[in-house]
Amino acid sequence: MITQNLSIIREQLTQGKLIGLPTETVYGLAANVFNTKAVSDIFKTKNRPNSNPLIVHVASISQARALVKRFPEKATLLAKQFWPGPLTMILPKSQIVSGLVTADQENVAIRIPNHPMALSLLNQLNFPLVAPSANPFNRISPTTAEHVEAYFPAIYTLDGGACHSGVESTIVGFENDEVLLLRHGAISIEKIEAQVGRILNRTASEKASLPGQHKKHYAPSCELIVSYEPLFMLSAVKHKKVGILWYKSVQIESIHVEVNLVLAPSGALDEAAKNLFSALHSLDHMGLDLIIVERLPAEGLGITINDRLDRAASK
Ligand code: TXA
Ligand code: MG
Repeated sequence: MITQNLSIIREQLTQGKLIGLPTETVYGLAANVFNTKAVSDIFKTKNRPNSNPLIVHVASISQARALVKRFPEKATLLAKQFWPGPLTMILPKSQIVSGLVTADQENVAIRIPNHPMALSLLNQLNFPLVAPSANPFNRISPTTAEHVEAYFPAIYTLDGGACHSGVESTIVGFENDEVLLLRHGAISIEKIEAQVGRILNRTASEKASLPGQHKKHYAPSCELIVSYEPLFMLSAVKHKKVGILWYKSVQIESIHVEVNLVLAPSGALDEAAKNLFSALHSLDHMGLDLIIVERLPAEGLGITINDRLDRAASK
């Protein structure tokens, strides 16, 4: 059920129910962080393994401080620059955060979302919200209330319009005095490095400290291929019902293609990020056998988008 009524949403959360939460990145499936039953319902509803920890969404830096043992100096710097915003920080948890939220790790993931409705909701509640993206495990992330409704019709979703960034938050951790990049996201590496200097890229690491970075993720129900040369790929698969998602423009109309979509007519990478999951949702509902996506330039948000596409393509 889609609603714009904050008091219905507040009541659902207070009763221990899950709700669809608009943020600037993607919609979340949210619950009271202190309600163990509600938190475990998130895992069940998403069909997500308990070993994959959740991000806690707070209204303010002081609310974040209550959830952690320490706030490193560089974390304070980043919070001042990017919160509210699409930056998640992994910090040593205090006792009030349950191990169910963190998959029994000593660290908790925290961010302040930059969406007016999410912020006013968080300010009205006396508890933070855990919220993974509101999609079944491994599926395409939702960027509209309608996407959430299609996945989870039985819950209330707060309608905050189409998400502004369209890809998930960037995740960083801290080790000694270093900042570690753990997930590419809506804030580019360059922007973070402009604040804290060189950061260490740990996104490719297979370490156990990176739960939930599953190779297969964001997947449509049909096969998906990512390529700098979509038409070259097409020549190998002539008999299938194919859709192509182009970066800036359709290069050549081919009679073998069922549908051509363009991600970002302006070529701007933030426009491409904003439209990415919506375009994948549309293509996913067209009964295609194959989606071919043009790979983006590997710079700035293009790196984040290519990361999502490679996971969507993973078998
Ligand atoms: O933009 C976002 O971050 C969205 C919106 C709703 O805020 N949320 C989101 O949540 O993308 P989710 O659950 O789809 O992805 C969270 C990622 C997972 O890869 C998870 O493993 C990682 O964050 N994570 C959460 N807690 C962690 C922790 N304590 N240590 C390491 N990684 C953690
Ligand atoms: Mg997710």
